[in-house]
Amino acid sequence: MDPIGIIYGNVGTTEFRFAVSDRSVKRNEYVEVSHPECGSILGQISDITRETDLSFDRAQKLSIGEEVPIGEQVAGLVTVVGYRDDRNTLLFPRTPFEAGTKVFKASEKLVRSVLGLKEDKETGAYVGILKGHDIKVYIDINGLVQKHAAILAKTGGGKSYILGVLVEELLKKGVPLVIIDPHGEYSSLMHPNNNAKDLALMDKFGIKPMGFADKVVEYSTDVSINKTAVPLKFDEINLDAKDLVDFMDSKKGGTQLGILRRVTRQLMAEKKFYTIDDIIGLVKKDKNPSKWNIINTFEYIQSTGIFGEPPTRISDLVKEGQGTIINLKGISPDIQEMVVARMSKKLFLARKLNRIPPMMLVVEEAHNFCPQQGGAMTLGVLRTIASEGRKFGLGLTVVSQRPAKIDKNVLSQCATQIILKVTNPNDLKAICQSIEGLTHGMEENIQRLPMGSAIITGGNIVTPIIIEVRVRHSKHGGVSVPILSAATQARKVPLEEMVEKMRQAHPELGEDGEDLDLRDELDEVDGEDKMHKDMKDSGGLERLEEKVKGTDVMSEDEPDLEEEEPETEDEAEADKEEESGDEEDEEDSEDDDKEEEEAEAEEKMDRDAV
Ligand SMILES: Nc1ncnc2c1ncn2[C@@H]1O[C@H](COP(=O)(O)OP(=O)(O)OP(=O)(O)O)[C@@H](O)[C@H]1O
Ligand SMILES: [Mg+2]
Repeated sequence: MDPIGIIYGNVGTTEFRFAVSDRSVKRNEYVEVSHPECGSILGQISDITRETDLSFDRAQKLSIGEEVPIGEQVAGLVTVVGYRDDRNTLLFPRTPFEAGTKVFKASEKLVRSVLGLKEDKETGAYVGILKGHDIKVYIDINGLVQKHAAILAKTGGGKSYILGVLVEELLKKGVPLVIIDPHGEYSSLMHPNNNAKDLALMDKFGIKPMGFADKVVEYSTDVSINKTAVPLKFDEINLDAKDLVDFMDSKKGGTQLGILRRVTRQLMAEKKFYTIDDIIGLVKKDKNPSKWNIINTFEYIQSTGIFGEPPTRISDLVKEGQGTIINLKGISPDIQEMVVARMSKKLFLARKLNRIPPMMLVVEEAHNFCPQQGGAMTLGVLRTIASEGRKFGLGLTVVSQRPAKIDKNVLSQCATQIILKVTNPNDLKAICQSIEGLTHGMEENIQRLPMGSAIITGGNIVTPIIIEVRVRHSKHGGVSVPILSAATQARKVPLEEMVEKMRQAHPELGEDGEDLDLRDELDEVDGEDKMHKDMKDSGGLERLEEKVKGTDVMSEDEPDLEEEEPETEDEAEADKEEESGDEEDEEDSEDDDKEEEEAEAEEKMDRDAV
C-alpha cells in the first residue's frame, strides 16, 4: 500500500503533522503509523491545511488579471487514537513518533481492534459504514438493550431515520420492542423502502428493500384517528387506589388518595369485580369536597375511551420477534402521558416477574415524557427503567431533539449515544456532559455533521466514531415534512385539488392507504386540527377546559385539578380529618407496603392486561 504522507516538523506523543502526498485524504479519516517502540498506532486526521506562498500583494495582482504562480503544500494534523497491547488494553505511546515516518491509510484490522468495532453479524446491529472507510459498523445488541441508548439531534436531523435502522436490526434478530410513537411515523416499517434516493444507495450499504409487516403490530388508543391500528385498551377492572392515583397524577393530594382508598376498599368488600363507573358512583356519594377532582378526572378519562373490555394483553404487546408500535398520533398530551406512564409501569412489572421476554422500550420525543423541568406522569417510571431496567432485561432508548430538556438522570444512564447534527449551544452542552471522552474536535464535528452522518459512542465502541448511516430496508415514515410545507404554501387551494397535486408530486405516496395521512396533514394545516375537532365534537374539549380552568395541564407545579373550597365549617373539618387520617393511613401502611408490593404485583399481573 502506498503511503499518504510523511511525518515532519516537531513531533509529539499525542499529535503530529504530516506532509500529505495523497490529496484524496480527508478530515476525520483514520491513519496508521509505525512507532519505534509500540508498533502500529492508529491516528485520526483532525485537520488538513493547504499552506501556500501567496502573499497579500500577489493576491491583489491576481485579482487584476496578472499571472501569479502559487506554490503550495498540503499538511495534515493527526490526533493519536492509540494501540492495543497483548491484553487488549487501549494504550498511548509515551515517546514521540519519528519525523520522516511514513503515514498510511489505516487497515481495517487496526481500525477494528483499536476502536473496538467487532464484525459480529449474530450479536451486532449493522447501523452504517465508518466514514471514509469501507468498514461496516455493528453495535453490540446486548449492550445496546441492557445499558440503554439515546438518539439525539436537532429537528429534522435524522433521528427517526436511524431509529428505524436500529429497529429493523432488532426485529431481524427477534428482539421484542415497544415503540412510543407520538407522531405515527413508524407503521411505515411494514412497507419496503421505495424512496428513489435510498434505492440508489442500497448497493453501497449492501441493503435490500424489505417490509416488516409480519413482525410489526400497531396499537392506538384512538382507532378513529389511527385507522390501521389495533385498539389499545386499559384494564379498568378492580383498579386499586394506587392504580387510580397513577392516572390522576396528583400524588401530592393525600385527600384524594384517602377517598380512593376508602371507596376501593368498600367496593372490594362488596363486589368481585368493579369498574371505573362503580368507583365514580361511590365517590359521588362521598362527603369530602375534593371528590369533584376525582369525578371530573375519571369522567374525562372515561370519555377518551382508553379503558375498555377486553383490555389489551401485555403478552400480546410484547412477544418474541415482535415490534409493537404505540401510535399516539392525534392523542392529547395528557392522555399520551397517562398511556405511556401506565404501560411503562406494567411492562416494568411484567419484566420483573419474567412474564414477558427481555425487550426494548423506545420513547420518541423523550423530552416530553422525561423532562428535565416541569415534571410529567411518566418521569418516575422512566427514571426507574433507566436506572434498574438493566437488571431485569428492560432496555430503554430515548430519542429527542432537545437533549438539554431531557432529565439528566435518564440521559446519563444511556450508555450508547447516537448523535446527529446538533447546533443549539445548550443541547451541545447537555450532550458533552453526558458523554465521556468527547474531545473538543468531536464537539465541533457534531455541529457540522452532514445529513446521513452520525457520531456513535459507548457500548462496544470505545472512542466516538463517525458513521454514514446505512439506508433503511423499510420505508421511512417522517416524510410528512415536505408535504406540510407544500401544503402551507398552497393553503387556499381546495383540499381535493391539493391532494391530487400532492399525489402527482409524490408518486411514492398514495399507495398503502397513505392518502389518509395526507388528508390529516392537510386538515391540520387548514387550521382545523383534527384532534381538536374530534375532542370538540365529543364534548371532551369542554370537559378538559372545565377541568384545567386556567392551569397548565402538563405542569406538575400547578395542581392539575382545582380543589373546591369547603363550603361549610363542617365540611372543612371533615376535610382536615380526612387528611390527617390519610397520613396515619399512609404511615401505617408504609411498612406493609414493601412486603405487600411483590405479592400485589403478582396478583395484578394475573389478568395479563395493561
Ligand atoms: N441517513 C439518512 N439517509 C437518507 N435520508 C435521511 C437520513 N436521515 C434522515 N433522512 C431524511 O431527512 C429527513 C428528516 O429525517 P428524520 O425524520 O429522521 O428527522 P428527525 O430528526 O426525526 O426529525 P424530527 O425532529 O422532526 O422528528 C427525512 O425526510 C429523511 O428521509
Ligand atoms: Mg423524528
